[in-house]
Amino acid sequence: MKKGILISFEGGEGSGKSEQIKRLVKHFQRLGKKFIVTREPGGTKISEQIRKIILDKKNVKMAYETETLLFQAARAQVCEEIILPSLKKGKFVLADRFRDSSVVYQGIVRGLGVKYVELLNDISTKKTLPKITFLLDVPAEVGLKRRNSTDKNDRLDGENLAFHRKIRIAYLNWAEKNKKRFVIIDGTKTPREIHQEILGVLKERRILKT
Ligand code: TYD
Repeated sequence: MKKGILISFEGGEGSGKSEQIKRLVKHFQRLGKKFIVTREPGGTKISEQIRKIILDKKNVKMAYETETLLFQAARAQVCEEIILPSLKKGKFVLADRFRDSSVVYQGIVRGLGVKYVELLNDISTKKTLPKITFLLDVPAEVGLKRRNSTDKNDRLDGENLAFHRKIRIAYLNWAEKNKKRFVIIDGTKTPREIHQEILGVLKERRILKT
């Protein structure tokens, strides 16, 4: 039985997910809520090792299938070690990327197929779905500009504007297909406005009382 609540954050490069998670963390701390934060790929010793392989710029020859399975391997480990036990204990889990990242990046944009990726997602997460998913939507140009102003630059960041545009459209279509779970947020608003909007939704859906 899962008693906790899983909240995931999705979006392309520079969409502001981590900033929003930081703000929500502060809010949860003020409320005295029990929670954990995860980021994918990563979050456990084994998953962080897998992350290094996935994002290493030297791995130019990595097949899409390899990439897909490595993301799933990292997810299976963080689910087993952290996410599922935390949910069992009744904690909130704030996930910086979860199964929808694989659907969008590998299933739709890399073209491996949503059906296959969802099958793998069901295995790696033991059929766990977030209660709610916030999609921080920004135009690809805006996201890339934000990202380029940081020093972050890994294998997937090296993809071009066309790739990032495809990611955005794929996310919007996938969110539309999963309307009940997804909340699309205009990521070009100020971080403060977005935070307020997220809190508003969480209260409206009775995930938070205050
Ligand atoms: P990360 O450094 O965590 O970037 P971000 O701040 O954008 O989350 O890099 C994760 C990269 O991996 C990002 O480009 C998205 C990609 N990704 C996938 O392609 N599939 C997945 O299943 C996950 C979790 C991430």
